[in-house]
Amino acid sequence: MNILVLNGSPRPQGNTRQMVHAFAEGAGKGGHKVEIVNVCEKQIGGCQACEYCHSAGKGTCAQKDDMGEVYELLKNADMLVIASPIYYHGISGQLKCTIDRFYAAAYPVKPPRLKKAAMILSSGAPDVYEGALYSFHGDFLDYLGLENAGVFTAWGSQNGSPEKLEELRKFGESL
Ligand SMILES: Cc1cc2nc3c(=O)[nH]c(=O)nc-3n(C[C@H](O)[C@H](O)[C@H](O)COP(=O)(O)O)c2cc1C
Repeated sequence: MNILVLNGSPRPQGNTRQMVHAFAEGAGKGGHKVEIVNVCEKQIGGCQACEYCHSAGKGTCAQKDDMGEVYELLKNADMLVIASPIYYHGISGQLKCTIDRFYAAAYPVKPPRLKKAAMILSSGAPDVYEGALYSFHGDFLDYLGLENAGVFTAWGSQNGSPEKLEELRKFGESL
């Protein structure tokens, strides 16, 4: 499978990125091709709700920024992984901007090969995932009709622990 990971953490050695890399290592071992986009290193503006994509643009976005790379990767992705630290009970703002720009990618039809989605979340406290999971279920599983491949969370000392990273590696390898 071609797996596209959208990582919403700005921290180069951060907890989310460690989990993403463990996942990618496992998935690579399993023979999958993993592309990681660190959205905080990109210039990706928020959706302007101009409706160009839903009218004259026919599914293309009026904004010409780094989201173009994501749109290209989405065309060939079989699986999408949404990875983020929890910020104020939701995903990071940079990742939210990226996801809002799916407004163009999911119109008039969803990315053709996309079948599965997974979520990776890191937080300081436990039980803070409802906001992110509401979006994952509503937007990716229900609206885009993707299969739930798994949800992985780490809080407090679970972050960066060998056990957690092994869980992510095994998940990647199992796909
Ligand atoms: C702006 C900001 C908001 C945060 N909000 C929460 C929160 O609401 N709940 C929580 O448990 N942790 C919160 N945290 C802590 C991060 O989720 C946590 O440190 C996470 O492991 C960071 O992941 P990273 O290392 O991949 O960036 C917040 C951190 C920041 C910087």
